[in-house]
Amino acid sequence: MNLLRRKSVTQLQADALTDFRLKRALGATNLTALGIGAIIGTGIFVLTGTVAAQNAGPAVVLSFVLAGVASIFAALCYSEFASLVPMAGSAYTYGYATLGELFAWIIGWDLILEYALGAVTVSIGFSFLHDIGIHIPAQLSAARGTLITLVDGTQVTAVFNLPAVIIIAIITFLLVIGIRESATVNNIIVFVKVAVVLLFIFGAAHAVNPANWHPFIPPSAGVRGQFGWSGVMQGAGIVFFAYIGFDAVSTAAQEAKNPQRDMPIGIIGSLLICTVLYIAVSALATGIVPYLQLDVPDPIAVAADHAGLGWMSALIKLGAIAGLSSVILVMLLGQSRIFWTMADDGLLPKFVSRVHPKFRTPWITTIVTGVVVAFFAALFTVREAGSLVSIGTLLAFVIVSVGVLVLRIREPELPRTFKTPAVWIVAPLGALSALYLMISLPWRTWERLMVWFVIGMIVYFFYGVHRSKLAQSRVSANPAGTSENVP
Ligand code: ALA
Repeated sequence: MNLLRRKSVTQLQADALTDFRLKRALGATNLTALGIGAIIGTGIFVLTGTVAAQNAGPAVVLSFVLAGVASIFAALCYSEFASLVPMAGSAYTYGYATLGELFAWIIGWDLILEYALGAVTVSIGFSFLHDIGIHIPAQLSAARGTLITLVDGTQVTAVFNLPAVIIIAIITFLLVIGIRESATVNNIIVFVKVAVVLLFIFGAAHAVNPANWHPFIPPSAGVRGQFGWSGVMQGAGIVFFAYIGFDAVSTAAQEAKNPQRDMPIGIIGSLLICTVLYIAVSALATGIVPYLQLDVPDPIAVAADHAGLGWMSALIKLGAIAGLSSVILVMLLGQSRIFWTMADDGLLPKFVSRVHPKFRTPWITTIVTGVVVAFFAALFTVREAGSLVSIGTLLAFVIVSVGVLVLRIREPELPRTFKTPAVWIVAPLGALSALYLMISLPWRTWERLMVWFVIGMIVYFFYGVHRSKLAQSRVSANPAGTSENVP
């Protein structure tokens, strides 16, 4: 049994050029919008305040810079792979081509944490719909067990998060009926949320009081992670959540019209745009409001209020809701494409890899993903799930950065339309910075990650290892089973 059997890059490239099962409808603008759709979500609207007040003070800006730099290293590596092997499986497929099937499975399993759990985490945020005047009975407005205080002061315990289920159902439907339709809706949402962020930036800039930026890095409170440099670093690990999503662009590779050219534009373009917006928003929020007052669920709305833009409060909520919807959309899109590819490779049941004859979408994996995500979002308060989403994503970054180097060594002559600049520096820095951010996350997150992998290994050894298409083809080509698919 060869667990490190690999797919051939040349074969994958040939497949990418000839596989038209999914509709190729996306250009560079749509792909960049998909990236922004996935990136701007709860992170910037919530974590900015929490990290400023608890970890970094005004230097939350530095936390955003550091997390942004680590993401840019990874984005460059993703771009090289996504243009070289433009397949919907993204990091899972890159892993299959470089490190072998076992690692590919580990990455695919790991990406469930980023995409499916990411969608669960973000959709739980929909429980605040009542804030904007949409009435939902309190019992049905949050996950089971959540205590809700009504306006008259009485408390009720929620049993079901109906808003989360509704939004997931709508988005799943959209993803089933077409990639073009999904991209159009995403473009509109992205327009709304970027407009809200820009309105805040330009509308609130006049209210900055530079005194609020002093001291820029508040002295350490004596506990690791509470201010001082350790606070800035821990803050970077936390705000990293706000950057998650640019890599999801790579899962749309088989739906892109010209993936070799447009994947790097979508991945790097969306990340750069969001990095600039994040740095501006965090600098303004801490310049307008003393950082200790930002520990609230809606720090950006509070900053807008301080800047005399009270009227923006509803708009910011709209921006946040828009943000959540497109994050869910792109996460569900990414997850369904990865499941689709894994099923196509035989590591998951083959029948789910069917493509809808009319819509040309991976409709079965889309519906399965939607149902599973809705189930967890409806019933669970996934406490601290955000850090599990982050650690899963960071692990994928480590593997992709290492994978780029492995392939440069093993197959240097492959024609690469996009080459990671200074790859011998950027890729190791990408891996090390992601590893560093992983280490800054709490130990219990690591424990959960390990439990998740143990489950993953059990699934692989009971199912995928025998059903894998590569294993099957090897057996039929060479019953003695002595050769690899790729030497
Ligand atoms: N980056 C996404 C967010 O901040 C996951 O919500």
